This record gives sequence, C-alpha cells and structure tokens, in this order.
Amino acid sequence: MRSAIVLTAGIVSGLALGWFVFPLALYSTEPQPLHFSHATHAGEKAGMACADCHAVDEQGRFQGIPAVAKCAECHSAPIGESASELQLVEQYVTPNREIEWKVYARQPDNAHFPHNAHVTLGAMECADCHGPHGSSDTLRAYQVNRISGYSRDIWGPNISGFASNPWEGMKMDRCVRCHDDRGRRDGCVACHK
Ligand code: HEC
Ligand code: HEC
Ligand code: HEC
Ligand code: HEC
Ligand code: HEC
Repeated sequence: MRSAIVLTAGIVSGLALGWFVFPLALYSTEPQPLHFSHATHAGEKAGMACADCHAVDEQGRFQGIPAVAKCAECHSAPIGESASELQLVEQYVTPNREIEWKVYARQPDNAHFPHNAHVTLGAMECADCHGPHGSSDTLRAYQVNRISGYSRDIWGPNISGFASNPWEGMKMDRCVRCHDDRGRRDGCVACHK
C-alpha cells in the first residue's frame, strides 16, 4: 500500500516535472522590441487593410513585415499619448532605425515558403496558418527552442505536440499533409534548397 502511494506520487511529480518544468528549460524567451497592436491598426482606429502593410509585390514576392518607413507615414510625430508610440518615434522613426521584430512563424533557412502560392493561388486566409494574430492587441514573447534554435510556433504551444486549434504548429508533416490533401506530390526540393 505504502509503496503504491510512493510510486503514484513519484509518477505524478515526474509528470508534473515533464509537463511544466521541461518546457521552461527547453525554451528561452525573448521579448519583442516594441509594443504593436494589430487591433489598433487593422481595426477602427487606423482602419488599414492587411495588404497595406503586408503586400505582395509585382513579382509575386511577399513583403513580410513593413519597414519603419511605413510607420513614418503616420508616426513622424506622435498622434496619440501612449508611451509605446513615443518610443516608436524617438527610437526608430526619427533616427530611421529598423525594428528587429521576431517572427513567430520563422522556418529554418533551408525550408522555402512562398506566401504568394498559398494566399493568392491557394486562396488561403492568413488566419488558417497564423490564427488570430491579425486582430491581436499585444505581442506575446518569442520563444526559441534551445536545442534546435527553432521558434516554438513550429512545434506549437502544446508540449505533447497535440494541436488544440487547427493553426497551431507548422512542422514539415503539416505542410506535406496539406499538400497531399490537395493532390500535390512535391519533391523534397520544392521546399528544401
Ligand atoms: C500598420 C501595419 C500593419 C497592418 C495594417 C497589419 N500588420 Fe501584420 N504586422 C505588422 C508588424 C509591425 C508586425 C510585426 C509585429 C508582430 O508580430 O505583430 C506584423 C506581424 C504580422 C504577423 C506575424 C507573423 C509572425 O509569425 O511573426 C502576422 C501573421 C500578421 N502581421 C498578419 C496581419 C493580418 C492578418 C493583418 C490584417 C488583418 C495585418 N497583419 C495588418 C504590421 C501590420
Ligand atoms: C495609417 C496610419 C498608421 C500607420 C501607417 C501606422 N500607424 Fe501606428 N497608429 C496609428 C493610429 C491611428 C494609432 C492610434 C493612436 C492613438 O490614438 O493613440 C496608432 C498607434 C500606434 C502605437 C501606440 C499603441 C497603440 O496601439 O495604440 C504604436 C506603438 C504604433 N502605432 C506602432 C506602429 C508601427 C510599428 C507602425 C509601422 C509598422 C505603425 N504604427 C504604422 C496609425 C498608423
Ligand atoms: C499556408 C500557411 C500560411 C498562410 C496562409 C499565411 N502565412 Fe504568413 N507565414 C507562414 C509561414 C510558414 C511563415 C514563415 C516563413 C519563413 O520563415 O520563411 C510566415 C511568415 C509570415 C510573416 C513574417 C514574414 C517575414 O519573413 O518576416 C508575416 C508578416 C506573415 N506571414 C503574414 C501573413 C499574412 C498577412 C497572411 C495573409 C495574407 C499570411 N501570412 C498567410 C505561413 C502562412
Ligand atoms: C511541403 C514542404 C516540404 C517538403 C515537400 C519536404 N519538406 Fe522537409 N521540411 C519542411 C519544413 C517546413 C521543415 C522545417 C520544420 C520541421 O523541422 O518540421 C522541414 C524539415 C526537414 C528536415 C529537418 C527535420 C528537423 O527536425 O529539423 C529534414 C531532414 C527534411 N525536412 C527532409 C526532407 C526530405 C528528405 C524530403 C523529401 C522526401 C522533404 N523534407 C520534403 C518542408 C518540406
Ligand atoms: C493548408 C494547406 C497548406 C499548408 C499548411 C502548406 N501548403 Fe504549401 N501549398 C498549398 C497549396 C494549395 C499550394 C498550391 C497553390 C497553387 O499553386 O495553386 C501550395 C504551394 C506550395 C509551394 C509552391 C510550389 C510551386 O509549385 O512553386 C511551396 C514551395 C510550398 N507550398 C511550401 C510549403 C511549406 C514549406 C509549408 C509549411 C511550412 C506549406 N507549403 C504549407 C497548401 C498548403
């Protein structure tokens, strides 16, 4: 009886350790350099469209996160009263210094991901892969796996690898599964160089 209790306690604490402490040890956390609210910009306050900042150019290349010159169109001087806007103006817009955003979805350098193929030709929504980021009000910290150097978002938030929401996790098997579902049989070199 006693040993069963000790054994159970051992298993439970072992699981707790694995569940809560292991992720803390596995990932290091890096804050974003500046506050940014998609709700402010793509919502009523600024009323912008996603493509105003995340355009696809004439060659079909996705422009990614906009440069600080884009922010300067409205923030050459403060228009509101917030501390974060003042920081934007003083530390970035005025000295024309780029903001080093951390990209949650960042894939390793050897994997090639073209937005245009998915968004324009594949008619997918940003939220299919990025969840509700486009309407978020704050930026969560960026987490990086200490062993692989990968963003946590590649594995997904759940340490077991189980996705609670369809957009969570973007490992190779997810890319390949969707391609298979849509009748694409891509060779390794379609995605790897
Ligand atoms: C005023 C310009 C602006 C507008 C408008 C805008 N974004 Fe962004 N977007 C940014 C900036 C700056 C970042 C970098 C900070 C961050 O991660 O939010 C970003 C980052 C992102 C990312 C982060 C990708 C990653 O993995 O790190 C996604 C997804 C995104 N935007 C989607 C959207 C969607 C969807 C819309 C429209 C509903 C939109 N954005 C409108 C400026 C903008
Ligand atoms: C089309 C105009 C426009 C552009 C372009 C723009 N913003 Fe804004 N931004 C606004 C408005 C409007 C507000 C709300 C100001 C207020 O009422 O405090 C705002 C507020 C902010 C704030 C203060 C916090 C908040 O969300 O209220 C930050 C920080 C900010 N913007 C960052 C950026 C960055 C970074 C870029 C470039 C990627 C950018 N903005 C581009 C219009 C713009
Ligand atoms: C099929 C999945 C998918 C869809 C749909 C998608 N994205 Fe992405 N997005 C990704 C992946 C994967 C990355 C990382 C790419 C990399 O690291 O090379 C990414 C990266 C980004 C980045 C960071 C780019 C950079 O390199 O700095 C932004 C911003 C972004 N996406 C915005 C958007 C917006 C806006 C839309 C809708 C118009 C969208 N995404 C649709 C999968 C997707
Ligand atoms: C549809 C796109 C796609 C195709 C096709 C594809 N890969 Fe990948 N692969 C990825 C992405 C994205 C990653 C990075 C994310 C990850 O590690 O799961 C990756 C990662 C890898 C890795 C590193 C695994 C790791 O955990 O770091 C290897 C090895 C690899 N791929 C081999 C292959 C081989 C061999 C093929 C052909 C049989 C192939 N891939 C086909 C997208 C693809
Ligand atoms: C939800 C489904 C879906 C996901 C997830 C997805 N893809 Fe795709 N991908 C597509 C579709 C559909 C196309 C074809 C679009 C078209 O040409 O009509 C495509 C096209 C591509 C192409 C273009 C190949 C060519 O013909 O030029 C590459 C490269 C690619 N995907 C890589 C990736 C990588 C890497 C990932 C994961 C990080 C990924 N995809 C995730 C559906 C998906």
